[in-house]
Amino acid sequence: MSRGRREAARGKVVEMKNIVILISGSGSNMAAIVRSARREGWDKSQGARIAAVISNRADAAGLVFAREQGIATAVVDHKRHATREAFDAELAAAIDAHQPSLVVLAGFMRILTPGFVQRYQGRLLNIHPSLLPAFPGLHTHQRAIDAGCKVAGATVHQVTSELDHGPILEQAVVPILPGDTAEKLAARVLTQEHLIYPRAIAQLLPRL
Ligand code: GAR
Repeated sequence: MSRGRREAARGKVVEMKNIVILISGSGSNMAAIVRSARREGWDKSQGARIAAVISNRADAAGLVFAREQGIATAVVDHKRHATREAFDAELAAAIDAHQPSLVVLAGFMRILTPGFVQRYQGRLLNIHPSLLPAFPGLHTHQRAIDAGCKVAGATVHQVTSELDHGPILEQAVVPILPGDTAEKLAARVLTQEHLIYPRAIAQLLPRL
């Protein structure tokens, strides 16, 4: 008998820590989190599970991977909503259907309303491909190259209502090499993102 069933049989309510991941595109960070959890078992060992992957784009490649892994998926199309508030309300409803302990933005390319951020305060994470607080926003890699930076990197942080700000949980540093293009640097940073995001989540789970 599984631990869940044993505890249920004893009348103890077992609450899963559900993780909902939001993506907009390729979803390689989401895939890295799923693979890391499967490989290392940090989800099961902490009573957690990746409950759903939600995208604002129906054609997000990451949705295919999630479905193949047997993870529930949903699409909330921002283009069907006239305002950010209306989109965020439908998004929150789709997320809340999974009763999440943690909401993970993994390449989710929408600006969120303060109300949405407030709703998930303390359990909303983001990854940004720069060494925050440097280079929030778009085109981070080109801006780091143009500024003559010698290093770049990625940051996992708690989300606050200010874009790409909030308490930092993990960072990784990579060199910027002579002749780097934004594409080359992005690829180097992304390999580090895939390491630090699962680690940050695994370390945060016991505190949720
Ligand atoms: C990642 O580099 C992530 O850090 C970035 O988008 C990429 C998504 O890749 N996020 C942001 O720029 C958010 N401000 P993925 O879909 O393959 O995970």
